[in-house]
Amino acid sequence: MGTKELEVSSLSSTRSSSSPCLSTIKWWSEDTIAVVTGANKGIGFAIVKQLAELGLTVILTSRDVSRGQQAVHSLRAQGLDVLFCQLDISDPASIDIFVSWLKEEFGGLDILVNNAAVSFNRIGENSVEHAETVIKTNFYGPKLLTEALLPLFRRSASISRILNVSSRLGLLNVSDG
Ligand SMILES: NC(=O)c1ccc[n+]([C@@H]2O[C@H](COP(=O)([O-])OP(=O)(O)OC[C@H]3O[C@@H](n4cnc5c(N)ncnc54)[C@H](OP(=O)(O)O)[C@@H]3O)[C@@H](O)[C@H]2O)c1
Repeated sequence: MGTKELEVSSLSSTRSSSSPCLSTIKWWSEDTIAVVTGANKGIGFAIVKQLAELGLTVILTSRDVSRGQQAVHSLRAQGLDVLFCQLDISDPASIDIFVSWLKEEFGGLDILVNNAAVSFNRIGENSVEHAETVIKTNFYGPKLLTEALLPLFRRSASISRILNVSSRLGLLNVSDG
């Protein structure tokens, strides 16, 4: 298998052999628009980088303008042309502004990566001190953003997708045994 095929496979699903997602045919292009939340660092930043390397149009979003712009500059320095827009997923007003901006600039989107999240506990800790912020950000944030963006999705069976980055701790059926 060549490098290109490996890259394509890494974006594939293993659900069904008849699924267009499983095809090794390149299903995206520079017209494919992907939005990634909480992308100024960590996993979100890595997802933006990889999508940009594959040639999609990627919008890096960050709640903090300067941290987001810094991330964009570092990618541009590597020859990757990503776009930036401020987006705080815990703030409905920020979601409204982002959705209007996206509609105005692109008319729609194809891929949403709900990555942004907060965590105030170390492994093994289970404090509820910041529970309100966690629920507002990690539950209502992606919910409100997804609901606001659904009408803008350019619905395509082979391209449209929403990826929710989560944690094993978010599973209801995890057992310690
Ligand atoms: N790393 C792991 O081991 C691990 C394990 C399980 C699940 N995950 C999941 O993977 C995802 C990314 O994790 P990570 O390790 O890359 O975390 P991270 O390095 O802490 O990055 C989280 C990102 O989310 C942003 N963010 C937080 N609140 C936000 C808000 N209200 N609006 C917009 N952006 C916001 C942060 O922005 P600031 O820089 O401004 O804080 C940051 O860019 C999360 O969904 C997390 O639950 C990670």
